[in-house]
Amino acid sequence: MSDPGGSDHGLVQPVSNCYASRPVEIAPEQPDDAPAIEHLLDLAFGTDRMGKTVYKLRDGIAPVGKLGFVIRDADGSHANPIRGSLRFWPVAIGQTRVPALLLGPIAVAPEDRGKGYAKALIWHGLGVARALGHRIVLLVGDAPYYEQFGFTRALAVELSLPGWVDEARFLGLELVPGALAGVQGLVGRAE
Ligand SMILES: CC(C)(COP(=O)(O)OP(=O)(O)OC[C@H]1O[C@@H](n2cnc3c(N)ncnc32)[C@H](O)[C@@H]1OP(=O)(O)O)[C@@H](O)C(=O)NCCC(=O)NCCS
Repeated sequence: MSDPGGSDHGLVQPVSNCYASRPVEIAPEQPDDAPAIEHLLDLAFGTDRMGKTVYKLRDGIAPVGKLGFVIRDADGSHANPIRGSLRFWPVAIGQTRVPALLLGPIAVAPEDRGKGYAKALIWHGLGVARALGHRIVLLVGDAPYYEQFGFTRALAVELSLPGWVDEARFLGLELVPGALAGVQGLVGRAE
């Protein structure tokens, strides 16, 4: 397995992506993007989002640097230049601390929803994650949307989160077939 946290791979260059209704460029997130991404997330989830259970797994821990992706304003016509954002956080499952990724937050600017931006970001993010050697991805989200990427409730049924979530929305994906077999327990912080 390659080192998921490790050195440069040249895998995160901007790419056009055909999962959107027109090709969009998905670019690695840059440090300067942070304020615009926060603004997008405030709009999408509200400023009280830090109270959610998944934020217990994120608070004080950096997202996976190589797995932050954005879609930028193509023509400069919007006040917020970031039109879509996807990040992943590292987590560890159970007493044996099996490494996994927590997908999200993902958000698309309200004016740009329904164009396939989220689909493009997620397919790209999962592809890079797999190429970097990650094996398991978890998320809390709507199954009818995330099933298209292979996420299922069944794959997360032996796992729990450190707080209340609607269990039907707690989903898992194996980037490597069988990666979740026999894995069980509480999903914890990756520290
Ligand atoms: C969810 C979100 C990221 C989707 O972004 P998007 O770029 O519009 O998504 P896509 O264009 O890839 O997909 C849109 C399609 O998925 C459907 N869809 C979107 N959210 C859905 C959901 N929660 N459940 C089921 N279907 C959903 C849309 O109806 C649309 O269907 P269509 O193509 O048949 O018209 C965006 O709506 C958003 O930022 N929402 C607020 C933040 C949020 O809820 N994030 C996800 C938290 S788990």
